[in-house]
Amino acid sequence: MAKKPPLTAKTADRHALYQEAVQCTEADVRFIDRVYRKRYDRAPLTLREDFCGTGLLATEWVKSKAERVAFGVDLDREVLAWGQAHNVDPLGESRGRVLLQRGNVLTPKRPQVDVQVAFNFSWWVFHERSVLLEYFKAARASVRKDGLFMLDIHGGYEATKSLKEKKRRKGFVYQWEQGVFNPIDHRITCYIHFEFKDGSKMRRAFTYDWRWWSVMEARDLLREAGFSSTEVYCEGTEKESQEGNGAFRHVQRCDNDPSFVAYIVAVP
Ligand SMILES: C[S@@+](CC[C@H](N)C(=O)[O-])C[C@H]1O[C@@H](n2cnc3c(N)ncnc32)[C@H](O)[C@@H]1O
Repeated sequence: MAKKPPLTAKTADRHALYQEAVQCTEADVRFIDRVYRKRYDRAPLTLREDFCGTGLLATEWVKSKAERVAFGVDLDREVLAWGQAHNVDPLGESRGRVLLQRGNVLTPKRPQVDVQVAFNFSWWVFHERSVLLEYFKAARASVRKDGLFMLDIHGGYEATKSLKEKKRRKGFVYQWEQGVFNPIDHRITCYIHFEFKDGSKMRRAFTYDWRWWSVMEARDLLREAGFSSTEVYCEGTEKESQEGNGAFRHVQRCDNDPSFVAYIVAVP
């Protein structure tokens, strides 16, 4: 077989790079499955991926079990079309079990699902408290009584620091840049850049204009939106490197790490 030519800024596809560099959807599916089964003693079957982008998680969901169905919601037609062509259509016969829909996550959706998620901090796109509350109320209305709503969150004092982090991936380097944080309105702009072996660069392949929200702000608003309780799952650390180990545990308190990632699980 002919060797693939090396990636360059001209030939690479930013959605494919994003999926490879940022997402780990097998781990997300394992987490959703474990937490749901523990609470309701059955396997969750229906998933709605809010802010789905290319719908990679929705696709992974239906691959994980023949009875599973997934819905993806995003505002952006271009990214949805990419996801349909590159993730959903290649599923073949199972493609009918994923429905990517253009829509606003602020509108409650039908059918009600076992699990609705907003991952990779996408819900930080909401800057106003009243709008985030509206979003959480829409999520509350869109999950079943025996359902769950899950978000992820990034915290610690490095979460608001200007910084650049590089990670090497197969054929390219992924760079995460956190811009200047404004402590008055919690606004922070972040960027994803990609660099290639030939020296070419894809600068600002993705830009995020976010409000940084804390765990407690989110929990309070989830309660106000009608969820009866929330649980926080924090990632453990490798002893030697002190890096995250990918294992998330339900906790009441955790170390004040400079940078941490957690899941918040809201129970209707
Ligand atoms: C960071 S991407 C998320 C990609 C993927 N879900 C992930 O976990 O990595 C954020 C997506 O949210 C979408 N988006 C932003 N505001 C939205 C809204 N109000 N309703 C639906 N989608 C929205 C954008 O179009 C973008 O595709």
